[in-house]
Amino acid sequence: MSESKPAVSKKPTLATLFKKVADGQPITWLTCYDYTAAYLQEQAGIDMILVGDSLGMTMLGYEGTLPVTMDDMIRHTQAVRRGAPNTFLIGDMPYMSYQPSVETAIRNAGRFMAEANCDAIKLEGGIEMLSRIRGIIEAGIPTVGHLGLTPQSASALGGFRVQGKGAEQAKRIVDSAKALEEAGVFMILLEMVPDRLCKLVTERAKNCIIMSLGSGPDAHGQVLIYHDMMGLYPRFKPRMVKVFANAGEVILTGLKKYIEEVTTHTFPRPENYFTMTDEEYKKLLSMI
Ligand code: KIV
Repeated sequence: MSESKPAVSKKPTLATLFKKVADGQPITWLTCYDYTAAYLQEQAGIDMILVGDSLGMTMLGYEGTLPVTMDDMIRHTQAVRRGAPNTFLIGDMPYMSYQPSVETAIRNAGRFMAEANCDAIKLEGGIEMLSRIRGIIEAGIPTVGHLGLTPQSASALGGFRVQGKGAEQAKRIVDSAKALEEAGVFMILLEMVPDRLCKLVTERAKNCIIMSLGSGPDAHGQVLIYHDMMGLYPRFKPRMVKVFANAGEVILTGLKKYIEEVTTHTFPRPENYFTMTDEEYKKLLSMI
C-alpha cells in the first residue's frame, strides 16, 4: 500500500465537530477495530472513529459484546490510533467496565485516554447511568451517551429490536437524552429508535450532538458498523444497514483465485519470487 498524505491534516476537536453541526454539515462516523481499516478511514476523511465493543463479534467471533474485556478494547484502540492519528477517536466502554461503580467507570475511561490516546469515550445507558457519566465527565473525559437499543442490555430490552415505538418508552428516551445532556455529554448515539423520536431529540438538543444508527436522517450525523457497511460480517446483516461496498465478496473472490492459481501452478510467476546466480548456486552445492 502506497504512503499518501492524511486527508485530514489537523486532528479535529470537539469545537470542530460543533462547528460542523452549526454549519449544517452532517457528521460521519464509523466503527473500526484495526490499523489497516483505520488508515483507510482516515484517508477517506471520516470525521470520527468508534472502536466499538462490537469488535467482540466482528473481530473476536463471539455471539455478542458481553465477553469483551477492557484489555481487548485497549489493544484494538491502540492499533486504530496508530492507523488514524489525525481522526477524532472514541473508545467504547465494554460490559462491566463502568456498571459496577463510579470509581470503576472513571478508572476504565481513563485507560482509553492514557493508554490508547482517545479523544472521548462512549458508554451505554440513560438516567440509571448518570452517576457514572457525571463521574467520568468530572474527571475531565469527554463523554458520549448511547440510548435506544443498547446491546449490552439487549436481554433486558427484549432482544435486538427497535426501542421507543410506544409513547411511554419514547418519553423515557427523551428524558434520558435531556438528563445526559445536562450531565455534560457532548454527544448521544440513538440506536434503532423511530425516525420521529430521533428528530424530536435532535431538535431539543441544545449543546449536544445527536447521532443516528438506524434512527433516520434527522440527526446531526450517521454512524454504521464498518463490517456491516462493507459486507464483511458473515452472520447477519441488520435490516437498516446499507452495504456501500461488498468487500466480503471481493475478498472471497481473491481467496478462491489464490487457491486456484496455487493448485494449478499458475502462481507464483517470476515476478513473485527471487533468484540467485548460477555461480552462487554452484558454490552452495559444493559446500553441502
Ligand atoms: O459497539 C459498537 O459498535 C456500537 C455501535 C452500535 C455503534 O456501540
